[in-house]
Amino acid sequence: MASSKPTVFSGVQPSGQPTLGNLLGAFQPFVKYQDTHTAFFCVVDHHAITVRQTPEELAENTLSVAARYISCGLDPAKCTLFVQSHVSAHAELGWVLNTFTQMGELERMTQFKDKSLRHAQNINVGLFDYPVLMAADILLYNATEVPVGEDQTQHVELARDIATRFNNLYGPTVTVPKAIIPKAAARVKDLQDPTRKMSKSLGGKGTLFLTDSPAEAAKKIKSSVTDSLAQITYDPENQPGVANLLEILAALTHRTPQEAAKEFKGQQYGALKSAVAEAVVQCLEPLQDRYNGLMADKAELQNILRKGAEKARAVAGPTLARVMDKVGYARF
Ligand code: TYM
Repeated sequence: MASSKPTVFSGVQPSGQPTLGNLLGAFQPFVKYQDTHTAFFCVVDHHAITVRQTPEELAENTLSVAARYISCGLDPAKCTLFVQSHVSAHAELGWVLNTFTQMGELERMTQFKDKSLRHAQNINVGLFDYPVLMAADILLYNATEVPVGEDQTQHVELARDIATRFNNLYGPTVTVPKAIIPKAAARVKDLQDPTRKMSKSLGGKGTLFLTDSPAEAAKKIKSSVTDSLAQITYDPENQPGVANLLEILAALTHRTPQEAAKEFKGQQYGALKSAVAEAVVQCLEPLQDRYNGLMADKAELQNILRKGAEKARAVAGPTLARVMDKVGYARF
């Protein structure tokens, strides 16, 4: 029987180590949904291979992202945690949705443009087609809400367009989703270049990884780039470095960046950096303890993901069947 709760779906790629951006833009905001929503959280391995991965690392990182989800507070008893490739409906619906997506729409995706520049030797068709698979992920679970960082909103918009197009042609079949972005830290910036998004692929001193030791993490915050204006106000346009620190602090202390700025009125940047470093370390330490504990029992993580895939299949299968029936596949 259909539940009366709204549904959320989101995914994280098992490529490299997650960053503070992933934590504040995704993992942390996900947790609240498990009590109010039917919630699906996925480790999107099909997406990860659009950039070349080392096979052993991909397998390890797949479990690692699952451990991150749980260490950040997701409870497998309250939500469904699973691996994308364990549910074959993702690739199948992705194929169908390809035929409802125009080349021009995918050519406009800013992430494709960015990644094509960064991976000029491997601009594969999967990288181009990636947002269609993402639409399939979301639509399979009838998700109404898709919590993501700001960089993914364009992809969720495309999923909305594809869903609407399908429904217009065949009558109501799939749920039209919408993106939800966090109030603070929806786009955590690189600590050394606050005009760019913090990204695991950029690496270096500007990227704070969730695997960084507390001392390393504090050092990265304390050596972050600010400006020479010597005033703590929330002004992303003119003070992107300070605004980034205020966003991080706000997200960790459940306030708005403007509220966080008030606390530092008249103080020096050093005081703000110390406060942010302390908040980050306080958050990271227990998280890393839980994460290490979970990674020490891989059999248990695999068990959780196996059960999650079973629950996911039970929802994804009927959606795929509905779509195939509408399109006219001969299913008997
Ligand atoms: P991925 O793996 O790049 O990132 C996972 C989540 O982290 C968010 N994020 C950030 N948020 C704030 N500041 C940052 N610097 C930052 N960097 C990353 C991302 O917005 C994302 O929410 N395509 C997706 C994965 C995906 C997905 C889906 C998401 C596949 N299918 C279906 C939602 C629904 C991606 O590459 O995320």
